[in-house]
Order: sequence, then C-alpha cells, then structure tokens
Amino acid sequence: MPTPPWARAAAGANTYDHGAGVVLPTVYERTTAASIAAGAINLGQGFPDAEGPQWMRAAAAEAITSEAGPTNQYPPGIGLPALREAVAAHQQAHYGVELDPSEQVLFTTGATEGIAASILAFSEPGSEVVTFEPWYDSYGAMVGLAGAELRTVPLTAPDFRPDLAALRALVTERTSMILLNSPHNPTGALFTAAEITEIVEIARQAGAVVMSDEVYEHLVFDDAAHTPVLSVPGAEEVAVAVSSVGKSFSLTGWKVGWVTGSPDLVNRVRGVKQFLSFTSAPAYQWATALGLGDDRGFFAANQEQLQRTRDLVMSGLMEAGLRPYLPAAGYFILADVSPVTDKTAAEFAVELVERAGVGAIPVSALTLPSTQRDTGSALNGMLRFAFCKDDEVLDRAMSRLDQWIR
Ligand SMILES: Cc1ncc(COP(=O)(O)O)c(C=O)c1O
Repeated sequence: MPTPPWARAAAGANTYDHGAGVVLPTVYERTTAASIAAGAINLGQGFPDAEGPQWMRAAAAEAITSEAGPTNQYPPGIGLPALREAVAAHQQAHYGVELDPSEQVLFTTGATEGIAASILAFSEPGSEVVTFEPWYDSYGAMVGLAGAELRTVPLTAPDFRPDLAALRALVTERTSMILLNSPHNPTGALFTAAEITEIVEIARQAGAVVMSDEVYEHLVFDDAAHTPVLSVPGAEEVAVAVSSVGKSFSLTGWKVGWVTGSPDLVNRVRGVKQFLSFTSAPAYQWATALGLGDDRGFFAANQEQLQRTRDLVMSGLMEAGLRPYLPAAGYFILADVSPVTDKTAAEFAVELVERAGVGAIPVSALTLPSTQRDTGSALNGMLRFAFCKDDEVLDRAMSRLDQWIR
C-alpha cells in the first residue's frame, strides 16, 4: 500500500499507477473516453439516457431564478428543512421507518459525500473495513484514505447471495465498519431482510458500524421489495443509511444525497461532512424535496421501463453467446465472457470497445488487486453492462455485439 493519502485513496479504487506514481481517471471515465475515441456505444457508465421528471427540473429552475423556494445563498449545512422533512416522510411512507428530521437526516452532496463522510468518521489506521466484492469504487478509495484495510467477502454467481458465514469469519475486534450495498452495484443482488438483519447482528457483536448504501432503492424489479437497513431490529444502534436523488429520479448530476440513522451516529458523520463541502445546491435540494414528497408515478414508470430494458439486454447478451446473470435491481447486468473468449474480461473489454463498438466495465476494476491476480476468480471473467439507456441504443449495441462475436 503506498503511503501518501492521495495515493492510498487512488490505490484503494484501483486508480493508482504504481509504476509512474500518478493517479489515473476512474474506470468509468476511462471507459467513457475509450468509447468516445472509438465511436462506441457506451454501456459502461451508469447514467440514464432519459432525463428525470420535467416538473422537478422546472421546480429547480424556478427556485434559482425566482422568489420561489430557497435563495441561492448557503443553505443550512445539514440541509434545507424541507429536504430533511421530505426524506423522513418518504422513509415513513415507503418503509415505515420513523426519523426525526432535525437530528436523524443529514444532507450530503450526493451519496458519494455521505459514503466518504461515513467511512472517514468511523474507520482509522489499523482498523479493517469489510464489504462484499465486487464493490462500488468509492468505498475502496475512502478506506484507503482513512488508512484502514479493506477486506472482502466475494459475491458469487449465479445469484450473488452474501455468504454470511464467510462474513462472520472475517469480522473481528479490528473491524470498524461493514459496508453494505443493497440493491447491489454491480451484481443487481437484492439482500433479503433476513440477510440484512444478520449483517447488523454481526456488526453489533463486533462493535462495528454498518454503512448501508441504498441509492438503488427504487430500481427494484419483478415485484421484489427493497429492505432498508433502518427497518431491521438493532439497526438503530449501529447503522447509517445513505441514499440520493440520482438513481431514484434519473437526475444523477444533481448530487443531492442524505445520511440517516440514530441522532448519535448522524451527528458523528456530520463531524466530517460539514468540512467536506459544508453544503451545496439549494435549488436541487428544494426540487428533490418536492419529488420525495410525491413522485407523481415516476418510481413505478421508471421501474417498468428499466425492467423492459433489462430484459432486452439479457436476451441480447445471451444471443451473442455470453452468460448474463439476471439482476433483481439496479442499472446493470453482469455477464461472464468465458463462453466466447479465453481472454480476461479486462482484455476482452478493450477489444469490445475498439472492434465491436460497445463499451463495458470489467468487473475486476471493482475488486481487490489480490482478487485480480487470482486466476480462479470468476469475477475476472465478467463484464458489467448498463441497461439504463434508450431501447434503440441498446438494440444497436446488442446487434453490434452479436455480429462481432459471430
Ligand atoms: C452503489 C453506488 N453508491 C453511490 C453512488 C453515487 O451516488 P451519488 O451520485 O448520489 O453520489 C453510485 C453511483 O453510481 C452507486 O452506484
């Protein structure tokens, strides 16, 4: 592990060039740049083609340019009261979770800042942070920055269920945090209430904090249900949840997020958060509060659309000869490329973007270096395809893939 903090952060997310001693762009940026250079269809980065609700965008514009809503000056560091109240009311209405908006909801600049502030608040040099692998890359970066060590429990195909016996074996008195992400990026696994309850119990016994990243909470398919961590027994003692406007409303550029949990834990996260960005985006906070208060049918319509595009990409990948795994939630499908190539998925991704004209993310970029070196790990043979795109774009991508592989 390199020693300066910037290099530890980069190395933790596989974006440190050890030879040159420089920071590389994230895997998403690299895939996007490679796709643009090759004129490829980019199914790498997880942002939707379709814009979010017009009425929310109009509300944000109105808040910026008129007297409606907040001013354009610093909003409160913990977030606009309207946003905190809307987050609490949304948790109550959707999950029956009761939160006091004045002490149990903290606005953050995207879930990304909530993740950073939580990890930096609770992990320290010498401690270990445990998560499921593959993981969202900012976890590795922040654990590296904190000087802690990231330990992982692999999620394995075909259903990517968390191995709780393996988790129990890995969690010790050195464990400061367990990072949970359900619905899970990139596998699309939806952890059950029983699994989340056991994870919370494991953390409680070890005196560790659980951070639960729930940004895909409204992108759940086939009538399955998301279980928020704060709805399970014992969670109020040990867990903070993180979510945001981005995925739920197809407004990924707005960067309005929130951390929820007990007054004590939220207060501790605030200790870090208020010196990262302090605050941001009053108009977007305002419009997000309106959306959370009444989504006007957006969640259901978006779910239906995404389930359709998920099924379209599943069939396309299967027809092209890959082995895709059906996700229960989220924006992504993982597909095993070994039926069509002897190469690793990282090597195959380079060919795919240049020769087939389709960009995808090698899952190995979202794993530990030790997993990347493990020739027996199935994760090294998997690519992540985003299906949050227009039908016509996905149709073209699938036919390019099919023609090239044939
Ligand atoms: C699992 C996960 N957490 C957090 C984020 C970031 O959320 P935000 O855009 O609100 O910072 C993403 C975005 O891709 C994600 O996939």
